[in-house]
Amino acid sequence: MSNSTALRILAISGSLRSQSANSLLLKALSEMVPQLATFTFYEGLEELPPFNPDKPQDIPAVLHFRKLLSQSDAVIISTPEYAFGVPGVLKNALDWVVSTGEFNEKPVAAISASPLTSGGDKALESLLYTLTALGTIKDEHSSLSIPAVKKKINESGEITDEDTKKRLQLLLGRLLFSVQQRIDTPRA
Ligand SMILES: Cc1cc2nc3c(=O)[nH]c(=O)nc-3n(C[C@H](O)[C@H](O)[C@H](O)COP(=O)(O)O)c2cc1C
Repeated sequence: MSNSTALRILAISGSLRSQSANSLLLKALSEMVPQLATFTFYEGLEELPPFNPDKPQDIPAVLHFRKLLSQSDAVIISTPEYAFGVPGVLKNALDWVVSTGEFNEKPVAAISASPLTSGGDKALESLLYTLTALGTIKDEHSSLSIPAVKKKINESGEITDEDTKKRLQLLLGRLLFSVQQRIDTPRA
């Protein structure tokens, strides 16, 4: 497949930290299948105002986010867990698009990564509920929780743990398969 027909993936990190493990994981994922998929990294979480259904919906930052979603074939989210939940900035972004439809029938993959042994599993569970509310396409192979992430990725963003690398490759492969399936069998 030439790069002009590569599948377009929008990557969203739930962390605003410059050295975020979740952002590094997304970067590592983007380098796994360069001939099959192009990655765009959404970096506008901080620009989105707090969601308020009473506000006009044509706020430039919101429109930009919606445009990136519309232009993507699939979305991958990797998030830390804060206080047993999804970081507020990520949940806020998802709240902006609950009613606008860009996520509807969009194949997604969800990752949580944490330095703790729980792997941020509560945030992941919560994120999956939200992705269900948004009408995304996903199944039991669409999510991955990564415990002790600091031992599995180095500061350059290289995944140093073979098992984690394999799981990420599998997750990405399933996502691309899901996108291809959707293209091959368009819904009525
Ligand atoms: C305010 C705060 C709350 C946190 N709560 C949790 C938590 O509930 N569960 C967890 O696994 N890690 C928690 N952590 C640790 C984060 O998982 C850790 O900072 C992680 O590296 C963030 O991901 P990042 O490297 O992508 O920024 C918390 C960190 C902060 C700053």
